[in-house]
Amino acid sequence: MWDPQTYLAYADERSRPFGELVARIRVDDVRAVVDLGCGPGHLSHVLRARWPGATVVGVDASDEMITRARADDDDPRTRYERADLRAWQPGEPVDVVVTNAALQWVPGHLDLLPALQDAVGPGGAFALGVPGNFEAPSHVLLRDLASRPDYAPHLREVVHPAAHDAATYLETLARPGWAVDAWESTYLHVLQGPDPVLRWVRGTGARPVLAALPPDLRARFESEYGAALRAAYPERAHGTVLPFRRVFAVAHRTA
Ligand SMILES: C[S@@+](CC[C@H](N)C(=O)[O-])C[C@H]1O[C@@H](n2cnc3c(N)ncnc32)[C@H](O)[C@@H]1O
Repeated sequence: MWDPQTYLAYADERSRPFGELVARIRVDDVRAVVDLGCGPGHLSHVLRARWPGATVVGVDASDEMITRARADDDDPRTRYERADLRAWQPGEPVDVVVTNAALQWVPGHLDLLPALQDAVGPGGAFALGVPGNFEAPSHVLLRDLASRPDYAPHLREVVHPAAHDAATYLETLARPGWAVDAWESTYLHVLQGPDPVLRWVRGTGARPVLAALPPDLRARFESEYGAALRAAYPERAHGTVLPFRRVFAVAHRTA
């Protein structure tokens, strides 16, 4: 279950990669854009600003996210649909499919990419962004703690997010008739306030682990995890620096 409020705590930092991904989509004549894993709809305005004449469809598997998106965004050019991106298919080809910070939650998602590309018509584009920070201390510490004997029995079913590097996405997307641009960026987020890294990961990477623990163990886990994060990401005079690597790929359909 997703909590839109917790996710939106760092909306500004989480919006920037989306804008940078969309800026690399070189398609101007766009009637339909689909955002797979759109979350609480806070980024649809980026798509409307880039393609003012287009219809924007936000797709997400979470009831909480879709409810929040519909409540917050009443722009008539946009609609939100609850659906699993693994089964999603458009009625007819669309001009742009974008998916940001969602595929890491879908195990084996490389196998889905050809079908998602094929949802795009000639001259269109498929664009993806995923976190590339799963070997960063925030995730390594989370997995280490989750594997300890008092927590592990509760966490056997938990799916840890995972993604690939830019070269792997390029190889997968570079089919005949497609031109691919793939890259990575590391953002140095300067976070403020107490336990900012814990607050960040509560909304995303640590969410399934915390949700799977019974309340008493969850409180202990958060306390131990928070202490480990404070040591790994020390607070400085200017704030707490969270380096965050992200991976992007844009595939343009040339034929
Ligand atoms: C981290 S949020 C990203 C939201 C937004 N795209 C952004 O860039 O900030 C991940 C979203 O992916 C959605 N998601 C995860 N797995 C999904 C799936 N199989 N089908 C559709 N949405 C999915 C979640 O419900 C969640 O809203």
